[in-house]
Amino acid sequence: MGAGPIGLITLLASRAFGAPRVVIVDVDDRRLSIAKNLGADEIIHVSTNIQDVDEEVIKIQNAMGSGIDVSFDCVGYNKTMTTALNATQSGGKVCLIGLALTEMTVPLTPSAAREVDVIGIFRYRNTWPLCIEFLKTGKIDVKPLITHRFRFSQEEVEQAFETSAGGGSAIKKANLSMRKDTSLKTAGGDDSCLELAVSARVSPFDEEAASTPLTEFRKACSC
Ligand SMILES: *[C@@H]1O[C@H](CO)[C@@H](O)[C@H](O)[C@H]1NC(C)=O
Ligand SMILES: *[C@@H]1O[C@H](CO)[C@@H](O)[C@H](O)[C@H]1NC(C)=O
Ligand SMILES: *[C@@H]1O[C@H](CO)[C@@H](O)[C@H](O)[C@H]1NC(C)=O
Repeated sequence: MGAGPIGLITLLASRAFGAPRVVIVDVDDRRLSIAKNLGADEIIHVSTNIQDVDEEVIKIQNAMGSGIDVSFDCVGYNKTMTTALNATQSGGKVCLIGLALTEMTVPLTPSAAREVDVIGIFRYRNTWPLCIEFLKTGKIDVKPLITHRFRFSQEEVEQAFETSAGGGSAIKKANLSMRKDTSLKTAGGDDSCLELAVSARVSPFDEEAASTPLTEFRKACSC
């Protein structure tokens, strides 16, 4: 569920782990086409309307062509988690990666009755070595995910967040380069650049969240 940065990375990671067939769903055609270019076998345009779940689950299952062993909710809303739970075959697993809502209303009991396991994952330190290994060996190539480049000046950082929060055609990962001679410190030598990934919380389910990254960033660096 979801073809934002988390969904796209999950697609690449699934492949690196040998997933033979991957189906991606999203509400945005542009993101879906990026998913397709990154190697999704099938892409499915879905709505934000909870009423459409049953119909969409059938579409997803047909696109997969066989039972769905594992689903990843890379969004974290009632509808995406409901879709993941209902689409996954008995005995399968649903991994919740996108953590948009604190509380969700989902049909958990019928899924439990089918012994579908719900698991979580977060970016704790023990997840990094494998991640770095995948990047180093080229097993996962994240470069296609970088769509814009911004310098680390006040003006361009703001531009980066605004572009990112723009929704619709918005980029999802920006490469911000920061030199040591800026007010923020980097670990390397004088020429070193620190690369920051900026990800926007642009959600079709939650328009207000779109403005938060810049606000949070300003708080973090007091600028
Ligand atoms: C999900 O699956 C359960 C169990 O089959 C069903 O009761 C429910 O209507 C399905 N759809 C939604 C949107 O919960
Ligand atoms: C999730 O579902 C519950 C129950 O229908 C509803 O009260 C809540 O507003 C929903 N949350 C969102 C963000 O749609
Ligand atoms: C990010 O930008 C810096 C500075 O322009 C560049 O050195 C680096 O290679 C870029 N990283 C990627 C992954 O494009």
